[in-house]
Amino acid sequence: MLSTNQAADGVRAGRVVACFREKFGSEPELWARAPGRVDLMGSHTDYNLGFVLTLPISRDTWIAARRRDDGVVRMHSMNLDADDEFRLDRIDPVAESRWCNYVRGVAAILQNEGLALTGCDAVIHSTVPVESGLSSSAALECALATVFEALGGWSVTAERKALLCQKAENEFVGMKCGILDQYSSCLGRAGCALLLDCRDLSTRAVHIADGIRVVICNTMSQRRLTGGEYLQRRSQCEQGAALLGVSALRELTPEALAARRHELPELVAKRCEFIVAESARAEALAAALEAGDRVAVAGLCAESFAGARDLYEICSPAMSDMMDAMLAAPGVIGARQAGAGFGGCMVALVDAASTDAFRAAVLDTYYAATQVRAEVYPVEAAEGAEVFQ
Ligand code: GLA
Repeated sequence: MLSTNQAADGVRAGRVVACFREKFGSEPELWARAPGRVDLMGSHTDYNLGFVLTLPISRDTWIAARRRDDGVVRMHSMNLDADDEFRLDRIDPVAESRWCNYVRGVAAILQNEGLALTGCDAVIHSTVPVESGLSSSAALECALATVFEALGGWSVTAERKALLCQKAENEFVGMKCGILDQYSSCLGRAGCALLLDCRDLSTRAVHIADGIRVVICNTMSQRRLTGGEYLQRRSQCEQGAALLGVSALRELTPEALAARRHELPELVAKRCEFIVAESARAEALAAALEAGDRVAVAGLCAESFAGARDLYEICSPAMSDMMDAMLAAPGVIGARQAGAGFGGCMVALVDAASTDAFRAAVLDTYYAATQVRAEVYPVEAAEGAEVFQ
């Protein structure tokens, strides 16, 4: 089953097939899908080898494909109404188009690993909003790797696929992201969140207690992720780890850091303090959500947002307005930032029975404060990248 909404899936599949026929004059031979994700706790902990509680979501990227025997890859993105075409024996980056580089990067990295690729015609359709902090890029990468895997007749573990897609983003696209997005997209399991340990890359399935719903609230404000901010945070963390003589901030407990905080420049100390506490909060939130401990959920989310705003400094005015709107809405249990910050989406844990009222109130309050129409997406936990009929 793709999602709980079979009728909507049917309509979507029909549109993709119609597009495929129009573009390529034939029927697709196989389909793959991979989800976006929202982090419930653990902002920027992944590249510090800490914990993150992630939810692969019921918004995903579908790719319908048909093999070609001439080593050519032709892609059409329905969302962007854009095309790309390249040969597998010569894969160069495209200077002005990021989405093409996600596609080309995955092909190049898989091939460099010695995995045999087959050319194909493909149509891409995604329900993950682009550049909003829900990992639309990882969903594209992981769905595409799954297409090449199925067409090529080989098979890799979900863990290896995630690492290869991360490598494509690090080395071909040039975005030095951690493992969170690709791991979430490849290892998702319907019905549960995942507590990911970014040091040993193990995951634990976390069942959120009945009656609690995950609701994503999109500020619709531009993220500045490719600007230097992400890399700057990353290098400040590395500086902190080096000054304290540990290989990664993961090696420090909040108590150990507090005892040595004075050894760090103030800005670096603030960054480190956030990461070390945030990683501990990811483990704590997993336990609180399993137990349905709403008071603990509220407190952990509030601490996370305050730290993101005051210590890690990844909040924007739009995010503060959205935080106010979420906290004022009926049924809210806890709310915080999501993704890398700097705008984009935020996430709330909501009393399931109040989801509609929560959504309506957030839309109204946020509009009154900003004159911007937000988008609100209640989501389910989705299965990771897979081939489907
Ligand atoms: C982006 C990166 C991830 C992670 C998050 C912040 O989504 O791609 O690796 O660092 O930001 O948690």
